[in-house]
Amino acid sequence: MTLRVLVGPDPGGAEPDLARLYAAPADPWLRVNMVSTLDGAASGENGRSGSINNAVDKRVYDQLRALADAIVVGAGTARAESYAPVDRPTVVVSRRGDVPEQLRGGPPGAVLLATCASAEHLAEAEQLLGNDQVLVLGEDEVDLLRLREELAGRGLTQLLAEGGPHLLHDLVAAGAADEVCVTVVPRLVAGEGPRIAVGPPVDVPLELLTLLEGEGTLLGRWRISSRMG
Ligand SMILES: NC(=O)c1ccc[n+]([C@@H]2O[C@H](COP(=O)([O-])OP(=O)(O)OC[C@H]3O[C@@H](n4cnc5c(N)ncnc54)[C@H](OP(=O)(O)O)[C@@H]3O)[C@@H](O)[C@H]2O)c1
Repeated sequence: MTLRVLVGPDPGGAEPDLARLYAAPADPWLRVNMVSTLDGAASGENGRSGSINNAVDKRVYDQLRALADAIVVGAGTARAESYAPVDRPTVVVSRRGDVPEQLRGGPPGAVLLATCASAEHLAEAEQLLGNDQVLVLGEDEVDLLRLREELAGRGLTQLLAEGGPHLLHDLVAAGAADEVCVTVVPRLVAGEGPRIAVGPPVDVPLELLTLLEGEGTLLGRWRISSRMG
């Protein structure tokens, strides 16, 4: 499948070099990547994003993973999408400290948990993952700016957050995200699926950096203006 650059360097030119196109402009950097239907659904009828994404989205999704030092994901998404350990650390964010089933028993260092001191499953998580892999970042809430710092201290500076909608909301509300990538697939599904961001109102100005098109799917990359230096 061919991708065209509609907005960005060399628009209309040859097939883009995705690794160059998506290279982060700074270090550390936290990018969020999500997929949506045209009518704004973040999941399809089976309650998963797997039922709305497609091969064009997968191509950029794989590239963004390849550029990341670590994957950051909300526990709800890790559970819904059955996340398993991958070739780089997965950082699960959970207020309750509940390590999703499929992320238990991975190789040492494959899974980190970001949680808070009041988490009901904290002791269990420390036993499952090891104390060093459990980051306690606040009393009742996970401080997402501190999460960035803690991960950077471990050499994990290029972060890819894969949602879900509550975590996306909280990352932008906390000022912890630098960039939002959204794939819009050419489908309209209605139903009760969430939007890509769920939570109290926020108003985050974004600057479009690139827009790609492939087989009718649009792949946008926006920089969060409030984090621009
Ligand atoms: N379209 C897309 O690109 C995309 C991407 C990802 C997910 N999804 C879809 O979204 C749905 C899941 O939605 P969701 O909103 O439940 O996902 P989510 O944000 O991943 O999960 C919410 C849960 O994650 C933890 N969490 C999230 N933000 C947190 C924070 N700031 N601090 C502490 N813990 C936090 C909490 O877990 P605990 O309950 O353990 O405390 C919370 O209950 C699924 O249908 C999934 O397929 C779509």
